[in-house]
Amino acid sequence: MSAIARLLFLAALSIPCCIVHSSNMRRIVGGAMVPENEQVPYQVSLQFQTKRGIRHYCGGSIIAPNRILTAAHCCKDMNVTLITVLAGVRNLDDRHGFRSKALKCAAHPDYQMLVTSDIAVLSIDPPLKYNSLTIAPISVIGKEFVPGNVSVTITGWGRMFPIPLNFIQSLTIPNTMRRINYHTITNKKCYEMGKTRVTDTEICAHGLFKGVCSGDSGGPLVMKSSKGLHQVGIVSYGWIICGLSIAPDVYTRVSTFSDWIQEQLKK
Ligand SMILES: *[C@@H]1O[C@H](CO)[C@@H](O)[C@H](O)[C@H]1NC(C)=O
Ligand SMILES: *[C@@H]1O[C@H](CO)[C@@H](O)[C@H](O)[C@H]1NC(C)=O
Repeated sequence: MSAIARLLFLAALSIPCCIVHSSNMRRIVGGAMVPENEQVPYQVSLQFQTKRGIRHYCGGSIIAPNRILTAAHCCKDMNVTLITVLAGVRNLDDRHGFRSKALKCAAHPDYQMLVTSDIAVLSIDPPLKYNSLTIAPISVIGKEFVPGNVSVTITGWGRMFPIPLNFIQSLTIPNTMRRINYHTITNKKCYEMGKTRVTDTEICAHGLFKGVCSGDSGGPLVMKSSKGLHQVGIVSYGWIICGLSIAPDVYTRVSTFSDWIQEQLKK
């Protein structure tokens, strides 16, 4: 990454006010709309109250009725009383969703932006009521190391076009959840493809003209295992110009934090 690119990139991610107010949110490019007859019951939208209303700004996943897994940069140092979680929707305008208030953001103590441990657990109230169709948890506990070339899926309400331009914002921000199917790559390959700061606490995925973008942060990367769907990653960072195959997407590697997540569930 060149110095200028790195600067642009840091600027886009570092200011919580702007992640919320402007278009600098990480969102999905490529991929397809989740069809009307399909649900992603573990996916939630993190929303922030501004003077102009409540807005989607990050993704998250349900790991217990009152606990949401997300990225540390989606709630650390933010005013948690202004965050709500919307569950049970495919379209953000859906009136049948279930909204809870965030009570507390437990960000990992080792979190360093763009370096490591971009993981947090949000406590919410009221607790979610599970149903098999629209609101259900995702499995996250387990220490199995996920190798490269594993088929994975990421969902979110992220930006669809690669370049964030404010004036076309209304055209590019989808209200309907989108989904990308692509593959993990090994950390070695991720490093060779330009993510020189990638560590063992992270996992990368890459696809041609596909990728996460503004507004997808904190969202769940899942794989199919013999026991069903399992979350392997949390959207952490990508490239300021999303989905152009320039560089892989970097996720927090969930298996590294299995013990920490279990502690947060007991609190
Ligand atoms: C958080 O937001 C609430 C509601 O607007 C406000 O009352 C409170 O002072 C804010 N807290 C901080 C630390 O800014
Ligand atoms: C990835 O896995 C598929 C089968 O799942 C295989 O056909 C392909 O050769 C693998 N690619 C690499 C680069 O290992």
